[in-house]
Amino acid sequence: MNISKLIYYCRAGFEADMAAELDSHFAQVSLYGYSQLKAKQGFVSFNLYSPFIFESDGRGKFPVKFDELMFARQQLACIGNLTFESNKDRVGDILTFLNDLNINVPFGDVFCEHPETENGKDMAKFCKKFSVPLRQALRKHKRLSVKPNNGLSYLHLFFESSESCEVCLSFPKNRSNDYLGITRLKFPSEAPSRSTLKLEEAILKLLPRNSHKEILVKGMTAVDLGACPGGWTYQLVKRGIKVEAVDNGEIADSLMQTGLVTHFAHDGFNYQPQEGHVDWLVCDMIEKPDRVAALMTSWLVTRKTTSSIFNLKLPMQKRYAVVKHELDTMIKELNEKQIDFHMRAKHLYHDRDEITVAVVTGGHLI
Ligand SMILES: C[S@@+](CC[C@H](N)C(=O)[O-])C[C@H]1O[C@@H](n2cnc3c(N)ncnc32)[C@H](O)[C@@H]1O
Repeated sequence: MNISKLIYYCRAGFEADMAAELDSHFAQVSLYGYSQLKAKQGFVSFNLYSPFIFESDGRGKFPVKFDELMFARQQLACIGNLTFESNKDRVGDILTFLNDLNINVPFGDVFCEHPETENGKDMAKFCKKFSVPLRQALRKHKRLSVKPNNGLSYLHLFFESSESCEVCLSFPKNRSNDYLGITRLKFPSEAPSRSTLKLEEAILKLLPRNSHKEILVKGMTAVDLGACPGGWTYQLVKRGIKVEAVDNGEIADSLMQTGLVTHFAHDGFNYQPQEGHVDWLVCDMIEKPDRVAALMTSWLVTRKTTSSIFNLKLPMQKRYAVVKHELDTMIKELNEKQIDFHMRAKHLYHDRDEITVAVVTGGHLI
């Protein structure tokens, strides 16, 4: 099928950053087009001047890798647009549209979605309600797998209003499998701060796929820079990892009592790991992005740490350009030192004015 329009979800307020990133990525693969966005609507459309061809079952080479995009929560290929007349049978219209396409494999799941905005509550209600009969009808017509199957394409119906929708597909290993591209996590009541959810999301989403159970394991060692009150340290301790928690503030007693945490009231920029090396360096210090990126690079290239997860604060302006520059500098230095690495950077659901970056190297690279 010919694809000439893509939709990317992002956090409301970051549409211009999403657009800047798309312009850069599409130009890199010599596909040209233009972004369309509305401020604070939480998504950006990218329209291509010439379509590319891609199989509906996900076969073929998709030009942009979702994992490489920082600001995207989701990547969708649009295959049509439906306008519903009032009182019309929307489910019937969608089935007719799908029947006219040459798609023979069932979808692995179906999502009725909407812009994730402050005012989107009504659309959220509509989508939730509409997805019930739609799901039933798709099942009945064998257009939906019996159980959710993330090895198949998903069907997404993107509603800006109840009168029309974009019909879109997402493809295995090149999308978020979560509804609206949002990782919902339950706050663990025993964790000392809500920041814990940022590290939990990063562990689930930024490490090489399905690797977190093998690469963050009991008996490993870590340094947490800017650790207090201890939300990030909590995630490490929960996995049986011994932590050097570095911060002038107070670390939660509950963490100290685990016997896995040693607190150092030290400046994170000068701290040296007690045994000279740790498996993980995590860093949530609120500092300029260039300072943090340089610090993380120095720990990785001098092998003081094997891997790292850290935040880069977003500046007020040119947010994409600034963090891209920091990450490119980091990549250049790691390459010069011939270090094999996996890097992923994302504006996570639990991030606000920062992105989270994971760099995995060495034996952790699987
Ligand atoms: C956002 S908070 C960290 C929250 C923590 N990750 C958690 O989950 O509870 C930032 C912390 O960085 C610490 N910090 C800022 N600059 C620092 C520095 N140069 N050295 C050590 N800690 C620093 C602050 O004291 C503060 O506690």
